[in-house]
Amino acid sequence: MPSIVPVQERYAASYRTCLDVVARERRYLAQIEALPLEKMQGFVRQSVATDAIQYFAIDNEVVVGWADIFPSWAYAVSHCGTLGMGVHPAHRGQGLGRQLLQACIQKAWDKGIARIELEVRADNVRAIALYEKLGFEHEALKPRAMRFDGVYFDALQMRLLHGDAHPRQLLG
Ligand SMILES: CC(C)(COP(=O)(O)OP(=O)(O)OC[C@H]1O[C@@H](n2cnc3c(N)ncnc32)[C@H](O)[C@@H]1OP(=O)(O)O)[C@@H](O)C(=O)NCCC(=O)NCCS
Repeated sequence: MPSIVPVQERYAASYRTCLDVVARERRYLAQIEALPLEKMQGFVRQSVATDAIQYFAIDNEVVVGWADIFPSWAYAVSHCGTLGMGVHPAHRGQGLGRQLLQACIQKAWDKGIARIELEVRADNVRAIALYEKLGFEHEALKPRAMRFDGVYFDALQMRLLHGDAHPRQLLG
């Protein structure tokens, strides 16, 4: 059974591979491939150094999923964090997404984040179902917010405010 661990430098390359697989599906993430390894290593190093809200799902030392919540840098919005996540296609539907998200939400509240926000393609029913289960609410629909291969897709903005999630939702 995969385990959920905080970001660690030794998983940087494996994280990149996992993200690359999900990005190349060309339907869930805004990016369609991972950034170069050196960039990802730098990003992971920075995450470790800053105790970032970032978790990996590890199966036999391989990253099979990730989730992160990065706070906005500017003063008046620094209590807002943006969520990103993905699970390798071979490992979906086994509860990893839920575990990754629960870990991130808990750490976000612990670190003083008061509002978690995200944007998801409006036809991504699995992700939206997960977010709703953990208490996220629909905020706005952004028409034509994404474009893949010349085709436009709407995106949904969702948010979770600290205190809105029922404790049972976080415990699973
Ligand atoms: C969205 C994603 C992260 C969810 O991770 P996962 O490990 O597959 O999800 P889980 O197994 O933890 O399922 C969580 C919930 O989602 C729902 N769900 C799972 N599979 C579903 C499906 N095929 N259809 C609808 N809902 C589904 C279930 O209600 C489940 O709740 P439960 O735990 O009460 O059964 C994962 O599917 C993924 O990586 N998708 C592609 C990338 C992506 O969409 N990233 C988010 C971009 S905003």
